[in-house]
Formats: sequence, structure tokens, C-alpha cells
Amino acid sequence: MRRGMDTYRLKTDIITHDKQILLPAGTEITDAVLRDVIAPNKNRHYKSSSLMHHESIRTDLSYCVSHPPYQWIFSLGDEYRDLMKLLEKTRLIQPVLETLDLLKSYDIYTYRHTLTVFTLSTLVATYLIDNYRDLMSEAVSSPSHDIGKIGVPLEILRKATPLTRNELDMLEQHPVSGCVLLNYYYGDTGNISALVARDHHEKKNGSGYPYGIHLDNPIAEIVVVCDIYDALISHRPYRPVPYDNRTALEELTAMAHRKEINMDAVKALVALNRKDKPDYRDCKLSDDKRGIPPKMNNYRIIVGEDTGD
Ligand SMILES: [Fe+2]
Ligand SMILES: [Fe+2]
Repeated sequence: MRRGMDTYRLKTDIITHDKQILLPAGTEITDAVLRDVIAPNKNRHYKSSSLMHHESIRTDLSYCVSHPPYQWIFSLGDEYRDLMKLLEKTRLIQPVLETLDLLKSYDIYTYRHTLTVFTLSTLVATYLIDNYRDLMSEAVSSPSHDIGKIGVPLEILRKATPLTRNELDMLEQHPVSGCVLLNYYYGDTGNISALVARDHHEKKNGSGYPYGIHLDNPIAEIVVVCDIYDALISHRPYRPVPYDNRTALEELTAMAHRKEINMDAVKALVALNRKDKPDYRDCKLSDDKRGIPPKMNNYRIIVGEDTGD
């Protein structure tokens, strides 16, 4: 997997959990800049603690997975107990835990989304990646994938009408901000959490953002699929109603057929949504589109675009 950063000019400051400006707006991020940023933290080792025992995380996570469709998805009997035991192994360093606390008071949607994507992507990873249970302590990256959103102004995160170009640019910086912050906190540019934060809006065919790379990393690809699924079926400010579950799965299937996202991860979600929970490898994904996407969806629509002005 690609390490480091292609050049990217910051639209807005990157601010740490303790309110320091790590990099100001206008900075051109290059590998050299990144090395300078992490240099002071190279030999600093933050204490790590259990995510599930931190503040109200366990209760909040149970709340997130107690509503449809998650209550069906996680109707797994003993397998759900195993999953919870696996999640118990997750340890995160102090600044990341503190950022999750900040996120809870700043933007409850992103906080709950983070916990949901963490739970779902861990489950999917146990199906798709050999030895994921053993890799878990090294590879867990989903709880921090959106921590860069802490630097996005709330009026942008909550805006119901289309964004301006500048607002969209500020929003779409969050993967870069998250990556820089995680590089800084871990004192390491190869940290898997930072790479997943950077790439969680990229696509396999290069049609994503912020860099438009061809995503090729199994862990990031699972987070991408779970991230899109949760965003589609959740209430979001930019559209009046969420996608219904069936339409969301059809949307993901179409994206997988267009080679934007990982087909096996989509199959795993489809299998989890079935009552008998078949093996994902036995799931056939049909191209049929019977669902109706919500109207008036302002996702990634820019004010003034397509007006012919
Ligand atoms: Fe994101
Ligand atoms: Fe996300």
C-alpha cells in the first residue's frame, strides 16, 4: 500500500485534540512536511487504553447496533459474543480516545457512525481477511477513520442545502487531516490507522477523493464499504430521508459492479442482511434495481453547478 502523501494544499487548519494548530491552512503537504510534523513526537509514546472500557463507548456502541437493520445484521448468537470479545481487544492511544470524546460532544452523528463502522467492519474483516483476529490489535483502524471531521466547521457538517465549492473542499479535507493527525499522534507515517483515514473515500477505480488513487488495500476497502453503507441508511442533513436498506444494498452492488468498491465486502453485507446468514462466497449479487433512492439528495452537489451560468 502507498505510504506517505502526494502533494495536497490545506484548505483549513489541522488542529490537534488539545487545540494546537498542527498545520495552518495553505500548507502544501508533502512527505517532507509530514516528516517534520511527526519529528517531535517520534520518541513520544502515548499511553494506550481499552476502547470498550473508555467512558461510555460500550453503552454507546450497543445503542448504535440496536436499531434496524443492525439488530438483524448482528443477530448472530454466539458469533456476536465472539465479536464483542474481539472488540474488547482494541486499544487506542490517549489522543485518539480524547478525539472520540470531542466528537461525541461536537457531532453525535459522526461519533455514532464511527462506532457502527468499527463494529461492522470488524465483523466483515473476520470473514474476508485470514487471521484478522490475530491481526486485530495491529490492524484496527476504523474507530479513527473520520477523526479529521473534528476540524470541519459544524455549519458545513450540518448544512442541508448544497455546499459551495469552498465548503465542499473543507469537508473533503477530513481524510487528509485525519491522516496527518494520526501520523503525528503515532509518530509514524506508515501507521495503518492513518492510511485508512487517508483512503476511506478513495475508490478501486480511482474515482474517489482526496487523491483519486486506485485503492488496493483489503482493510481500507472493508472500511470503505461499511462507511458508505452506514452513511446511506442513516439520517443525514443533506437529504430528507435515508436510503431504505434494500436500496442501499442495491446501490452498493451497483458500485461494486462499476469496480468502485470491494465486491466481497458487499457480498458479506448482503449475506449478513439475510436471515439464514449464508457464507458470503455463496451470495450472488444481482444487478436488479427495484429500490427507489431518496429524492432531493444534496450529497456532493455544489451550489451553482449545472446552472449553465
Ligand atoms: Fe469520512
Ligand atoms: Fe465515515
